[in-house]
Amino acid sequence: MDTAVPGPWRHAVVTGGAGFVGSHLCAALLDGGTAVTCVDDFSTGSRENIAELRDRPGFTLIEANVAEPFAIASPVDLVLHFASPASPADYLRLPLHTLETGSLGTRNVLALARSHRARFVLASTSEVYGDPQQHPQSETYWGNVNPVGPRSVYDEAKRFGEALTTAEAGSHGTDTGIVRLFNTYGPRMRGHDGRAVPTFIRQALAGEPLTVTGDGRQTRSLCFVDDTVRGILAAAASDLRGPVNLGNPAEITMLELAHTVIELTGSRSTLAFVERPTDDPAVRCPDITLARGKLQWEPYVDHRDGLRRTIAWFRRKLAA
Ligand SMILES: NC(=O)c1ccc[n+]([C@@H]2O[C@H](COP(=O)([O-])OP(=O)(O)OC[C@H]3O[C@@H](n4cnc5c(N)ncnc54)[C@H](O)[C@@H]3O)[C@@H](O)[C@H]2O)c1
Repeated sequence: MDTAVPGPWRHAVVTGGAGFVGSHLCAALLDGGTAVTCVDDFSTGSRENIAELRDRPGFTLIEANVAEPFAIASPVDLVLHFASPASPADYLRLPLHTLETGSLGTRNVLALARSHRARFVLASTSEVYGDPQQHPQSETYWGNVNPVGPRSVYDEAKRFGEALTTAEAGSHGTDTGIVRLFNTYGPRMRGHDGRAVPTFIRQALAGEPLTVTGDGRQTRSLCFVDDTVRGILAAAASDLRGPVNLGNPAEITMLELAHTVIELTGSRSTLAFVERPTDDPAVRCPDITLARGKLQWEPYVDHRDGLRRTIAWFRRKLAA
């Protein structure tokens, strides 16, 4: 299987580059010989995420909110728009910021790509499918989203971002792509960001009960961040307009995930069942036929391996 990262581009702009996925993207681009400008307001990201990148040649940080217009003088040939709160804990805490980032932010970042005639890729999400009535979800499924539910600030911002990106390509001929990421996990997630993998790992390492929501039979498909990054860059290197699903079709229940984290950490933690959040989807699994066919992409890190690598990172961070 081809696991090489495509490129290089000369100069990429990564919005949200100080976040979890964005910081891995910046590193992969630099590894491939591309200069990177990271644009981030640190609303949910951190300086620690980019600490190892700051001294690398070709890396520039611009601290800015993308919902405000901004410009970059030197030529840019790739724009990856990843700025947005992404975990439920963050977007519930930052509802208006999330909507503004997905709407005004996407407009401004598209304008930047247009002015440079750069390829633009929007980070969209499986959340556009809402609580899906089709399983697995293919790109042709339109979704089942509650427009006024608590998650709507994120779901609808991303749906609007997709609409705006599509209209931009049609109206201005900007070279755009849309990737719909399914749950991604790996090093640099925050233990308190509310997502299942970092929450379970934090709890298991602290010997606390793992809080499983509902009866734990709801499923997620978990994609290790290295696989996700390779897929994003494959989409960036293609002329695929998308949307294209990027995720790991291997489905796992939250109960299985909790037991696996306990086993791999060697923890003596027990499970505590808590209420499921409103509009929490029951199933989530990508149909990746399109990515396989058009991008020759598929994930290859199995969840036990990815969890081991993530747990090792959490242990190192706790020891530091
Ligand atoms: N991690 C996943 O499983 C997942 C799944 C689907 C989609 N995505 C998408 O991928 C992107 C990155 O997600 P993540 O998990 O790395 O989240 P994250 O919160 O770790 O990273 C988001 C980054 O964007 C920055 N940001 C937010 N609003 C901004 C603004 N207005 N201006 C400038 N910077 C801003 C934050 O400070 C942060 O560094 C998001 O667009 C998210 O919707 C992620």
